[in-house]
Amino acid sequence: MSTASGLLVDIAEVGVDRQRGGYSRHGFDRVELELREWFTAEAVKRGLDVRVDGNGNLWAWWGAPGPNAVVTGSHLDSVPGGGAFDGPLGVVSALAAVDALRARGFVPRRPFALLVFAEEEGGRFGVACLGSRLLTGRIDADAARRLTDPDGVTLADAVRSAGLDPAGLGRDAKALRDIGCFVELHVEQGRGLVDLAAPIGMASSILAHGRWRFSFSGEGNHAGATPIGDRRDPMLPASNVVLAARRAASTVDGARATVGRILPTPGGTNVIASSVDLWLDARAGDDATTRAVVAEITAAAEAAAQAEGCLLRVTEESYGDTVHFDAGLRDELAAALGGVPALPTGAGHDAGILAADVPTAMVFVRNPTGVSHAPAEFAEPADCEAGVAALVTVLDQLNR
Ligand code: GLV
Ligand code: MN
Ligand code: MN
Ligand code: MN
Repeated sequence: MSTASGLLVDIAEVGVDRQRGGYSRHGFDRVELELREWFTAEAVKRGLDVRVDGNGNLWAWWGAPGPNAVVTGSHLDSVPGGGAFDGPLGVVSALAAVDALRARGFVPRRPFALLVFAEEEGGRFGVACLGSRLLTGRIDADAARRLTDPDGVTLADAVRSAGLDPAGLGRDAKALRDIGCFVELHVEQGRGLVDLAAPIGMASSILAHGRWRFSFSGEGNHAGATPIGDRRDPMLPASNVVLAARRAASTVDGARATVGRILPTPGGTNVIASSVDLWLDARAGDDATTRAVVAEITAAAEAAAQAEGCLLRVTEESYGDTVHFDAGLRDELAAALGGVPALPTGAGHDAGILAADVPTAMVFVRNPTGVSHAPAEFAEPADCEAGVAALVTVLDQLNR
């Protein structure tokens, strides 16, 4: 019988990022494909029937596939330089839960599947929760096929290289019908459970959040030969976005705004950039507040671009409104787990995307560092096993 921490050790060397630290595992890249093969082998070892849907999400069925299944899982990809737990903990816990359920003589009375979503972090193609957005039709399939990674590879080409037909990308009504309910176990991405001295909890809601691309264009020129007054330097309005993001989010309770990625072109120390792209991640408690924060940042960006004689184009790359997890399923979890704390989360999840179509819930495992999307992300082995035990209890309860 496997433990979640033992299974994490099995994949500890896959996708280590020696430059950034942590892990870089991105949708359909060599590393993620290796992890998918590993998962497939583990599922097959357990007698599960592994299938890949048209969007590249991996399903492992315990018994015959069918509608209205109890489904659990998460994702195997990471942000660039991410931690070991965000995503993989939910996948290894699902495998460990199968072992524990089998050991106690569990027999699925309704269809039962593990589900691994593709490209949850958007670390390669820029759109978070891509596999679940495609499955639910929350992203247009043609637009998705045209998404490109930083090397110019389209999603269509990437899935083709992974042996899938890009024509199969898009809303999958049958797969949706198959999910009767989805429970995602995840490492907590803050200090909520640490502060409550609780090893596990469950999710109450997810902040409204989205990603916006700000593209500034100016005039590329020589860093030494161009007088300051003659410049149209897009780095100036870009730096204003960073400051405006902090300013706008600081004035609204619970709002977050981050510029974590900036790309000057051509990107030379002695070159005034001709263009700068940056990506804003903004989140808040509700739709109107999130939109207001982004509008304030956009207005500052426009003013700064104009002052420098630069042009600005803003594109919304993805967006999702506040998610309130299914009340009925939450009640079932609370009853099964004996009143564990329920916490809101600022992080996005496939369970949040699916929540508009099917009942979903999340189990959180305490993270003593409170850090996530970085190598310091952590969960103690004992807490991981408490997470598996909780998942086992919940899955058993839902198998009616
Ligand atoms: C994904 O983990 C996100 O919340 O950005
Ligand atoms: Mn994440
Ligand atoms: Mn995650
Ligand atoms: Mn996520």
